[in-house]
Amino acid sequence: MGIDKPACDFTIYGVLGDLTRRKLLPALYQLDKADLLHDDTRIIGIARHKITRQEFIEKMRHNLQTFVKETLDEDVLSRMLARMHYVLVNLDIPDEYQRIKEIVDQEQRILINYFSVAPFLFGDICTGLHHADIITPETRVVLEKPIGRDLESSRVINDTVARFFNEDQVYRIDHYLGKETVMNLMALRFANSIFTTNWDHNTIDHVQITVAEEVGIEGRWGYFDKSGQLRDMVQNHLMQILTLVAMEPPVNLNDDSLRNEKLKVLKALRPITEDNIDRKVVRGQYGDGFIRGKEVTGYLEEKDGDPSSTTETFVAIRVDIDNWRWADVPFYLRTGKGMAAKRSEVVIIFKRLPHNIFPDSYNNLPPNKLIIRLQPDEGVEIEMLNKVPGIGDGLQLQRTMLDLSFCEAFNNSRIADAYERLILEIIHGHQALFIHREEVERSWTWIDSIHAAWQKSHEPPKQYPAGSWGPVASVALLARDDREWEE
Ligand code: BG6
Repeated sequence: MGIDKPACDFTIYGVLGDLTRRKLLPALYQLDKADLLHDDTRIIGIARHKITRQEFIEKMRHNLQTFVKETLDEDVLSRMLARMHYVLVNLDIPDEYQRIKEIVDQEQRILINYFSVAPFLFGDICTGLHHADIITPETRVVLEKPIGRDLESSRVINDTVARFFNEDQVYRIDHYLGKETVMNLMALRFANSIFTTNWDHNTIDHVQITVAEEVGIEGRWGYFDKSGQLRDMVQNHLMQILTLVAMEPPVNLNDDSLRNEKLKVLKALRPITEDNIDRKVVRGQYGDGFIRGKEVTGYLEEKDGDPSSTTETFVAIRVDIDNWRWADVPFYLRTGKGMAAKRSEVVIIFKRLPHNIFPDSYNNLPPNKLIIRLQPDEGVEIEMLNKVPGIGDGLQLQRTMLDLSFCEAFNNSRIADAYERLILEIIHGHQALFIHREEVERSWTWIDSIHAAWQKSHEPPKQYPAGSWGPVASVALLARDDREWEE
């Protein structure tokens, strides 16, 4: 087994599903192309359809041709297809896991089990693997979200998996942690002294985190309606971004150091309850509207939609973190579907200067801002004031941007997809970029309290036209604090 490139049997449950097609296969292709897979690594697809290996290979070839966003390199494609095997397993029949045992070789390769299936099947798979006596201390298991829909159901899933695997064998995916720019948050904060020393209540006024999507529900109505934007996006992706922005410096980048610091932030979140929810949370649902000039149907009228649904497609929240660093510094989160643009960013708004010596230019000097663009068009901007060049007309100030586009700064180098990084980390057995069980549970506890308050209030979500930035109430959320969203 090579040290730099451990050989694995990368086993995907749900190999004919959407995630495999769109994300896992293209990511494995890129890893193979970059020569990051061991020669002996194999990709073993598990599903319950009766197809021959050849039919399976043809399907995989077709998927790669469709979803890899570049012209395929024929050598890499053949190498990758040669790694692929197919095993038919009905996941709820333990005896059938013997077929997996016959194909994997744990003496030679690390066994990675990627559960790209609905969580209610996790228990069956674990039981089947146990029944076939496949699980060793080296075996790894990868869990896709959602890990439950509340604290209780997440515990059931985690308990089931924990009966067969130790926490250090479990990799819970939040694909935002694999995004280049999300990772860069750590570089920005902890590799640059101008930020390390200016990152607390002394200099920062507030923080805004926006994850906006143009797309609506796109054929996922049934799934999404049971979930809603709070569970689908905030509980995981936005909370992870929040913890990376707010955490204390970890002592190093090892698995536990990083996860412990994130956990401390989750523990310090001030609960939102029925007493304060009106002032802290806005819940929205998109109606008809226009996105990029195209007419869009409202959430309730979408295919398979139920006109009486009160599920939210937008949420904005004022989050308070009760610790020393962030006393009186609110974090405003907002995320929605059917919005004006696809845009994810973190904006740090610094405090205003205590005194202005340039009375002619501004009554009130605007604050500096650090804008971290997560997607698209990844980069970092700093908004600052400069003197307008010239003589004779006093000292005029103007807002200017220091703009670092990653694409330009790094010579148009390709930005890897989140799944490429995460799969590589799993192969190498690094857990820092995966969610610890305790993080999942803390985060659900906080989210459950918001849900409980919504249930008591019976207030329906506020409507917003598709193609806008959310309900007017979201503007009011910040206006109450004398602030406004960055548009
Ligand atoms: C998924 C959500 O986790 O993230 C989807 O379930 C959402 O609803 C997606 O569209 C967004 O991911 P990205 O990488 O496109 O921002």
